[in-house]
Amino acid sequence: MSEPLNKSELVKLPLHVAIIMDGNGRWAAARGLPRLAGHRAGTENLREVIRATVEFGVKYLTIYAFSTENWGRPQEEINGLMRILEDVIDRELEELNREGVQLRHIGHLEGLSSLLQEKVRHAIALTKQNDRLVLSLAFNYGGRDEITCAVRRIVEDGVKPSEITQELIASYLFTSGLPDPDLIIRTSGEMRVSNFLIWQGAYAELYVTDVLWPDFGREDLFAALKDYATRDRRFGKLSDRRCG
Ligand code: IPE
Ligand code: IPE
Ligand code: MG
Repeated sequence: MSEPLNKSELVKLPLHVAIIMDGNGRWAAARGLPRLAGHRAGTENLREVIRATVEFGVKYLTIYAFSTENWGRPQEEINGLMRILEDVIDRELEELNREGVQLRHIGHLEGLSSLLQEKVRHAIALTKQNDRLVLSLAFNYGGRDEITCAVRRIVEDGVKPSEITQELIASYLFTSGLPDPDLIIRTSGEMRVSNFLIWQGAYAELYVTDVLWPDFGREDLFAALKDYATRDRRFGKLSDRRCG
């Protein structure tokens, strides 16, 4: 049973929440389990987090599941992570679609098996009319890689230097069409962004919790949103809250 939470405390809501889902390996190690058991456990709580995101009124959720740097892990762990993504799509797609979730992918599909590419493409096509929540999956995603690819395509398109603006660059990123994240949550206590949304998150509020990703649920999301509601976002200007 989910606890009643006082949603009136969420006086200011982020439009877009992004989550660095970290700590699966430590969750498993703490239980004497293999790392992959932690990654599997880290998919069990996803449904609850996605539901809670919708419940609290957040419209965009982006989750970081596999970075371009994660290719440096042992092959067995990489294979396991690929298999887990396949299983999650098989297990969750129908329900996500029923609940009005639109799935997007950011990162490169190339590099994944053709079966996995096919599953991701199918999920995107199936859910593209949905508008209750836009859920972007960052898989084989890296911020520097994203910017490098954007620059390459801008040059290929013959864009003139005088035409290069921040808006133009943003339109060449994987996130084109998405609002910038207002809140980036990182689980497991690490105080870094690890190549996640480095352009888009320039003014995101950061929230780090010690909770390990597989243990992160509805109440933890609520705590992050409550904290966000107290933030004074200045964007380099002066506070709206200043006196006189
Ligand atoms: C996050 O958990 C998931 C991925 C990066 C794929 P980790 O696997 O990084 O877990 P820790 O940081 O080792 O605990
Ligand atoms: C960031 O976590 C990537 C994902 C959560 C997918 P990592 O565990 O890979 O990051 P570092 O190595 O601690 O910076
Ligand atoms: Mg980690």
